[in-house]
Amino acid sequence: MAHFLIMTATSGTNRELADKFASAAESKGHTNQIVDLSEMDLPMFTVARSKDPSQAPDMSELTDSMTTSDAWIIVAPEYNGSYPPTLNNVIAWLSGDWQNFRTMCTGKPVGIATHSGGGGAHVLMAMRQQFSFIGADVIGRQCLSGRNKEANPETIDAMIDNLAR
Ligand SMILES: Cc1cc2nc3c(=O)[nH]c(=O)nc-3n(C[C@H](O)[C@H](O)[C@H](O)COP(=O)(O)O)c2cc1C
Repeated sequence: MAHFLIMTATSGTNRELADKFASAAESKGHTNQIVDLSEMDLPMFTVARSKDPSQAPDMSELTDSMTTSDAWIIVAPEYNGSYPPTLNNVIAWLSGDWQNFRTMCTGKPVGIATHSGGGGAHVLMAMRQQFSFIGADVIGRQCLSGRNKEANPETIDAMIDNLAR
């Protein structure tokens, strides 16, 4: 059985989609943790802040969860043809300790999903490129949903099965 870390970039429809992945994982006997990146309310990453211990946030709890999980599922809406600042920002903070960051990401199975306004294809491409770049193994199957398209339960099930291998 696998332990999934499900990270949602926003707290609305994408949190609901994250819950669907959690339910699917649980129904297959897997465990999971959902982390809402917007609830972390991190300060915006700047190099100056990252060098100031009084301003740099403690990322150890998230790093531990990312390290100990067997696979990650990243859920994010499309913002202006890419992903939202919450996701970009958390990756910047995590990569401060870039050697450990690389080690943590290398070979990690990752699934990507979105609930977006009208599109969603661009945020999936952006996440695929980003997570591949940092060394993760992004699986081919992905979940796209939106205002006029429900998330396909068969896709969610297949992604859980692929990631749990
Ligand atoms: C700043 C901003 C930019 C957006 N840009 C896009 C976009 O480029 N393509 C799209 O399909 N939806 C876009 N949307 C709509 C969101 O993807 C959509 O409302 C999504 O469901 C929001 O997720 P949430 O309910 O989890 O907050 C944008 C929304 C915001 C707030």
